[in-house]
Amino acid sequence: MQRLLVEGGRPLQGTVSVSGAKNAVLKLMAAALLGDGKFIIRNVPAIKDVFTMIGVLKALGVKCQLEGSTLYLTVGDIQGEAPAELVQEMRASIQIMGPLIAKLGWVKISQPGGCPIGDRPIDLHVKNLEKLGAIFEEGYGYISAKAKRLVGTELCLDFPSVGTTENIMMAATLAVGTTIIHNAAREPEIIDAQNFLNRMGARVFGAGTGTITIKGVKALSSTDYTVIPDRIEAGSYLVAAAITGGKLRIQNIIPKHLTALIGKLQEANVKLDIASDQIIVQGQDTIYPANILTLPYPGFATDLQPQFMALATLANGTSVVKETVYSNRFGHAHELRRMGAEIIVDGNAAVIKGVKQLAGAHLYATDLRAGAALVLAGLSATGITSITGVEHIERGYENLVEKLQLVGGKIWREDEV
Ligand code: UD1
Repeated sequence: MQRLLVEGGRPLQGTVSVSGAKNAVLKLMAAALLGDGKFIIRNVPAIKDVFTMIGVLKALGVKCQLEGSTLYLTVGDIQGEAPAELVQEMRASIQIMGPLIAKLGWVKISQPGGCPIGDRPIDLHVKNLEKLGAIFEEGYGYISAKAKRLVGTELCLDFPSVGTTENIMMAATLAVGTTIIHNAAREPEIIDAQNFLNRMGARVFGAGTGTITIKGVKALSSTDYTVIPDRIEAGSYLVAAAITGGKLRIQNIIPKHLTALIGKLQEANVKLDIASDQIIVQGQDTIYPANILTLPYPGFATDLQPQFMALATLANGTSVVKETVYSNRFGHAHELRRMGAEIIVDGNAAVIKGVKQLAGAHLYATDLRAGAALVLAGLSATGITSITGVEHIERGYENLVEKLQLVGGKIWREDEV
């Protein structure tokens, strides 16, 4: 096991290139199961979740080869049972359910794992795939489903769940007739999945709005596709510049995917120069407090809440953070308190009274984005911060240590003793 060590107090300076979006590429890889032939997926981040998904696809019979940031997939004869040890590593494995039921007529997976951030049931996935005609069976630790041929229908999600929207969208591409998803999630990654599916020959319309229409087709082929930039990685580096009082050019991004964060950073007195595919961000000596409420897109992303909370710990006043997407996503608050942050958590709200300085401490990354928040706090703190639970961070950030080192961050890995 490794830990991260961060020696803080250095304003970051330079350019950071953002990688492809984790939350997009995992779904595109699942969507490839619907097609046949050779796929090329470009701008793929070399992160643990992508390696896990490669393992899942290989076990299903897909040939996979990652060369640099280009992923080659060959989809031919596949089967529908994924190994438990891989599925349990990552919640996004459930995205193979819709494609496999639609393509093969059956799927069997164990209950999925992923970041421990509150209850993350899969009831919405199951309920809505059932509406398309899938018949589910739950056994000890596994879930299986079958269907002769899915049939399109009109449905309304109880909550605009990202994964459910994608699972239904993918399954419906091969269903008989038309499916309409109301109250669909509107995240940019869903538009990416729509574009990918349509390049395979699907007929999906409306992604990015609350209503998505899918006209079923008989078969799908393969495609060559470039993944969108990772808006959560980009947002994390925006906060890195802000929290260290540094100046960074964040490039290879789509700034309009970051509108909610940009507004909050501006409220916090961070200077931003926004172009079509990059942002120059300059931190200031004084950080103003700002309240955030996490919401489905285009609201403030729950995946950027921990990083923003790290910034708020240094504001010249009190900020309130309300988490409405997950039931338990404040693991980082407890760790930030070890560094001298003043945070009171009450249910789904956290009140953060800014302090002048954080101090290095021994910390544990409870989940992926909490881990990123601790790295950011460590970059601004006095002394050395050590962070265990690094495996969570490596699930979602490509070359985090190397990218930070390139812009002057003093951060390194060390084997745990
Ligand atoms: C995706 C992202 C994750 C992000 C989340 C919300 C990926 C791989 N992950 O996760 O990084 O934090 O969107 O933006 O894309 N829910 C249920 N039942 C279900 C499904 C979801 O109750 O069947 C609940 C969840 O527990 C959670 C909320 O709905 O409280 C949002 O979940 P959802 O939008 O589905 O997130 P994911 O797709 O899992």
